[in-house]
Amino acid sequence: MSVLPESESLSIPQIVAAKGREKIAMLTVYDAPSAALLDEAGIDILLVGDSVEMTVYGQPSTLTATMDTMIRHTRAVSRAVKRAVVVGDMPFLSYQAEPARAVENAGRFLADGGAAAVKVEGGRRILPAVEAILAADIPVMGHVGLTPQSYRKFGGFKVQGREADSAREIVEDAQALASAGCFAIVLECVPETLAAEITSKVPVPTLGIGAGLHCDGQVLVFHDVVGLTRDLRPKFVRRYADLSTVIGDAARAFAKDVKSGDFPSREESFTGSKPTLRRVH
Ligand code: KIV
Repeated sequence: MSVLPESESLSIPQIVAAKGREKIAMLTVYDAPSAALLDEAGIDILLVGDSVEMTVYGQPSTLTATMDTMIRHTRAVSRAVKRAVVVGDMPFLSYQAEPARAVENAGRFLADGGAAAVKVEGGRRILPAVEAILAADIPVMGHVGLTPQSYRKFGGFKVQGREADSAREIVEDAQALASAGCFAIVLECVPETLAAEITSKVPVPTLGIGAGLHCDGQVLVFHDVVGLTRDLRPKFVRRYADLSTVIGDAARAFAKDVKSGDFPSREESFTGSKPTLRRVH
């Protein structure tokens, strides 16, 4: 029997139990109709990522995400999802400054957003926040390697852990998060050998993005997967659809039909006498 059954609402313990038994599929998503489609398609974890700032709001980084934005998108996604585990991404400065604030903000993702868990970026330096959130019985997903909220420190969106020292730091960060009780850890943009080492060393699932094949699961950004991001095409993205072309073609065809008078047809229009119309109004 599948560890992650197709027909039932998945739980955090089921995600943990999938390690070494079944690969986990995770995508980001930000709105209700897309979430319903991804959920019905069998995606196991749906992350309401702070990447919403870049994919939906056109910002150059995720740093502009706020709690209110993230909760609003998380609520839209949670309402549409029946099976997947919904994870809310904690925005920049919502958990780093003070553990008590971190707990309050994490709690909002569950209470107001309907999420099952939250994700935070960073390793040992954010352990006080992680431990406080976990102590409030809020499941936490960790995230190490290229953590986009730290891109200023890294000097850009660059692969991390290529040198022995930084690789060791990332391993120790992942182990500390797992020991603290995180139920899964995202490994972003690290060499595949390092991801394999971390995956073998931690007892919880690793979810790779630009981290090679040996992780326990894979995560990608929805807009990349369906071909809605045209300017940026990271090496690790596999594009499964070309919605930019589909949407562009549909919009061009609509404009052409409007201008030629071909739309709307009689079938697409209402008929009725004036008295009926008055009643409708
Ligand atoms: O916000 C996001 O999309 C993420 C993924 C890259 C894991 O954190």
